[in-house]
Amino acid sequence: MNVAKPLPHESARLHVTGTARYTDDVPAPAGCLHLAFGVSEIARGTLDGLDLDAVRAAPGVVAVLTAEDLDPVPDCSPSLHDEPLLCTGAIHYAGQPLYLVVADSHLAARRAARLHEARVTEETPILTIDDALAAESWFDGGPRIWSDGDVDAALDAAPHRLTGEIEIGGQEHFYLEGQAALAIPSEAGEMHVLTSTQHPTEIQHKVADALGVPMHAVRSEVRRMGGGFGGKESQGNHLAVACAVAARATGRACRMRYDRDDDFVVTGKRHDFRIAYEVGHDAEGRLHAIRFRHWTRCGWSQDLSLPVADRAMLHADNAYDIPAMEISSWRLRTNMQSATAFRGFGGPQGMLGVERVLDHVAHAVGRDPLEVRRRNFYEDAAEGKAPAPRALRGAAKAEKNGRTHFGQEVSDFCLNELVETLAADCDYAGRRARVAEWNAANPVLKRGIALTPVKFGISFTLTHLNQAGALVHVYSDGSIHLNHGGTEMGQGLHSKVAQVAADRFGVDLARVKITATDTGKVPNTSATAASSGADLNGMAVKAACDTIRDRMADALAAAHQADPASVVFAGDEVRVGGATYPFERAAAMAYAARVSLSATGFYATPEIDWDREAGQGRPFYYFAYGASCSEVVIDVLTGENRILRTDILHDAGASLNPALDLGQIEGGFVQGAGWLTTEELVWDDRGRLRTHAPSTYKIPCASDVPEMFDVALWHRENRQETIYRSKAVGEPPFMHGISAFMALSDAVASCGGRYPALDAPATAERVLGAVRRMA
Ligand code: MTE
Ligand code: MOS
Repeated sequence: MNVAKPLPHESARLHVTGTARYTDDVPAPAGCLHLAFGVSEIARGTLDGLDLDAVRAAPGVVAVLTAEDLDPVPDCSPSLHDEPLLCTGAIHYAGQPLYLVVADSHLAARRAARLHEARVTEETPILTIDDALAAESWFDGGPRIWSDGDVDAALDAAPHRLTGEIEIGGQEHFYLEGQAALAIPSEAGEMHVLTSTQHPTEIQHKVADALGVPMHAVRSEVRRMGGGFGGKESQGNHLAVACAVAARATGRACRMRYDRDDDFVVTGKRHDFRIAYEVGHDAEGRLHAIRFRHWTRCGWSQDLSLPVADRAMLHADNAYDIPAMEISSWRLRTNMQSATAFRGFGGPQGMLGVERVLDHVAHAVGRDPLEVRRRNFYEDAAEGKAPAPRALRGAAKAEKNGRTHFGQEVSDFCLNELVETLAADCDYAGRRARVAEWNAANPVLKRGIALTPVKFGISFTLTHLNQAGALVHVYSDGSIHLNHGGTEMGQGLHSKVAQVAADRFGVDLARVKITATDTGKVPNTSATAASSGADLNGMAVKAACDTIRDRMADALAAAHQADPASVVFAGDEVRVGGATYPFERAAAMAYAARVSLSATGFYATPEIDWDREAGQGRPFYYFAYGASCSEVVIDVLTGENRILRTDILHDAGASLNPALDLGQIEGGFVQGAGWLTTEELVWDDRGRLRTHAPSTYKIPCASDVPEMFDVALWHRENRQETIYRSKAVGEPPFMHGISAFMALSDAVASCGGRYPALDAPATAERVLGAVRRMA
């Protein structure tokens, strides 16, 4: 068996020896040129003219391109056609590319791109949520509203009511490898593009459109990314399109990478949210109804904001079976970077909204927040119960009924048992008592503890994206070369997929090689996103491998007058009719018998069905679960704080690779905790991002990882027939960071009688402010 083993990442050795090649490490072709954008300093207005003489005269500059030089101006949007590569007159944000410098070195291009004079008419930018609401500046034609049950009646009938609001900040992806692309022009107008992207097909599509050529004339390739986290789903389009356009204009290879500051200033980030809630509950903290309002700043263009805001709505229940719920969601258009995909894709924000509600209600009724959470959980699915084949549609909900607010039956819930296990293992009850004792004895350092659950829906909500393809070759020396539609960004997708292939052929993993993802090998791919890389591509590769294996079995069985079903592939050998061949010998025999040793595979997720307009159906094939418990300490004089200990129990199904999955869970938690504690984006009142480097934007470092950090897998098979019954693990653990935030809230609550109502990120300043409000 090659699956279920804690094997190292397929490029681990290359990573640690510095020999793994990223897009910008690919040696420059002869005569390669380098690009940089000249960007807008104002957030809103019109571009009346550009004086580029100094730019053109700068050392090393070969060409300067403006929108006027490009006809038509290529579009870089992944959704609406609302993102021209270069400004066409209207300025939408500070950082918007105005023109493109083509120079003989990266530095020359960057230096020249600072030398323009832009004549602009400045207008007052729409920056805040309130600005956008006042200006009715939004996408999607107004708020999207989903409702389930009679929320007004349920609120009126509830014994207790409370209302509140939470501000939730955005987040910079801070992938270690910045955005990068390289375009190499070829004969007859063909273009070969290498990009650090999660979505090679989108790059191919956008470059083909920009060049006015069919998709077959563009090959898009990515070997690996140094992190993407959603920030390379659409944000790489601009660099690839710029390189392709400049490569065609000059006939030379062109490459581009953003310096870190430019990456911050030009590209989109996680959506920030304001969530308001109105809750009806009883004295035990049982929820009767919630009315949520979500406001999110989408920035200047639509990008992926609609599905992100939808996913926030889809996670507004998290683990709780809420009898009546209404959510309205405003997707606000503002003069800022266009907010984009980021690990969890809106799910974390929606989930934090309901976790805040549970925390607030628990405080109001004076009960342990974990007790209140558990009281509102969905019911665990009975062992062996088959998942419901179809969503129940339509029927309005009046009480807990095991269905989400969008009508999907929650048929695989396990958090009652999982949370009980985690709470016992980490001694939640004992430690809560000790935290109270500590707080009674210590006036300056206050502790807090919280245990929060995660239920995250797996599948793209745009149903047609749930498909994948693969191409597998077995060579006559018994080596196996494969490609699939997914991209490697550090998460270990290629490792997991290679394990699947090795397992299907019963061979050593060393026989399997996965090379760069390439649109010329596997076409029409979806972005590697929504955590479904292994689910989708693992299945496609399995299908292709099984096709070849069956052909080999047929050929070998024929030679031995044996039954093909009796041929065994195991232990790096093939056994047939009493004979045993090393795998390479079996491959050579199949070749000699003129059998095709190459095959494609395809997979489409079954059973899903989603009506986005109605907000009803079954968008998710299954849910991934987990829970985490964090203990923190705050200094009430400064607001400074630390996470002392975190315990996580996470459901990765029957893990394909427990070592990689633990890495995803640990990294996800730390990134989630960073989002909710230290990572703060600040725009000034003219819409300029003031936090655009690690000097001013604080991501977690090794010393911010909890001193005690215990992560365990919940080893249960997925009830659904996923690849080896595993579960997607890329995004769900990010939301374990919520336990750190709620623990901070708990620590602040110990300072007085009010509810702390912390906003996120809970920076030292915010914690201090919340402590001061308690007095
Ligand atoms: N892990 C690493 N190391 N680097 C990344 O960029 N991206 C995350 C997650 N884990 C990411 C990561 C995001 S946003 C997603 S959607 C998934 O990985 C994508 O990969 P998968 O579908 O193969 O899980
Ligand atoms: Mo992940 S945000 O779906 O790329």
